Amino acid sequence: MALPTAVKIVEVGPRDGLQNEKEFVPTATKIDLINRLSAAGFPNIEAASFVSPKWVPQMADGAEVMAGIERRSGAIYSVLTPNLRGLEGALAARADEIVIFGAASEAFSQKNINCSIAESIERFVPVALAAKERGVRIRGSVSCALGCPYQGEVPIASVVDVVERFAALGCDEIDIADTIGVGTARRVHEVFEAVTKVFPRERLSGHFHDTYGQALANIYAALEEGIAIFHASVAGLGGCPYAKGATGNVATEDVLYLMNGLGIHTGIDLNQVVAAGDFISNAIGRANVSRAGKALLAKARSEAACS
Ligand code: HMG
Ligand code: MG
Repeated sequence: MALPTAVKIVEVGPRDGLQNEKEFVPTATKIDLINRLSAAGFPNIEAASFVSPKWVPQMADGAEVMAGIERRSGAIYSVLTPNLRGLEGALAARADEIVIFGAASEAFSQKNINCSIAESIERFVPVALAAKERGVRIRGSVSCALGCPYQGEVPIASVVDVVERFAALGCDEIDIADTIGVGTARRVHEVFEAVTKVFPRERLSGHFHDTYGQALANIYAALEEGIAIFHASVAGLGGCPYAKGATGNVATEDVLYLMNGLGIHTGIDLNQVVAAGDFISNAIGRANVSRAGKALLAKARSEAACS
């Protein structure tokens, strides 16, 4: 299949990235980061979570973050909502899209949201209905679609099953998430071949963590399957509180560098994203793990020193 000519990159650093930071990141820093990312041209930013602060304390200031950001016209600001209480917070915060999240692995579902896969879908029914009534977009995220830290291999049939359940809830978009970054390109082909039979290809996304250094290869494999929505985290921020050892999502700068090289349109200014990655890495005292980001920063510094 020919590669797509344009892709949507969803920046998930402010949520998936920062949620894993042990030290509380000040609300003003989160807002500053999101504003910089908005200015860089992202069509969709995952900005916050309305989850239990006991479970993920870093995301406790979701309402303040959403109230403080400058929204770029036409951009979608998404938030995670595990239940009706989360949805109420999301609606009050004027989120454009809510994200419900379930796992293709029973063990991970218990660890992440404290219930079985079937129970989680039941819990999402009223959430999805209320969101639809209010005209808010719904995204469903399928964790552990390429492997689980607790159960190991995850059958493709389990992934297809959750995708079908999310589709029945009216999801506008569904993410195939490699939560712990164990997937490789062949499995990516197999999984997308299977899920595109039950949900439209153009509304499926690839959410790849880079733990085993496979994320860019997996994105390329997904492009070959015609997938045109990818999630990425500026400076490679992140990990998962319920998946020990998992690193962040693939770094946004690396994905943009790849897309630019392939001539695939994103509408995002790579240099501004590199600057945003430098800003947040310095602000929270964390190493920038974007290869392209570090290379472009070093190049800019050496050019500045020579001029
Ligand atoms: P629970 O403990 O089973 O349920 O948590 P609960 O109803 O007893 O709630 C516990 C406490 O939290 C109560 O407070 C609730 O009021 C409160 P208490 O009475 O003890 O004072 N609470 C809330 N507070 C604020 N907002 C809410 C909310 N709900 C309950 N919405 C629950 C069940 C689902 C709430 C919990 O397990 C939870 O919040 N989990 C979130 C886990 C999470 O955010 N994980 C990370 C995101 S998923 C991810 O990163 C994967 C993804 O990136 C894709 C991938 O890579 O795989 C999307
Ligand atoms: Mg994730």
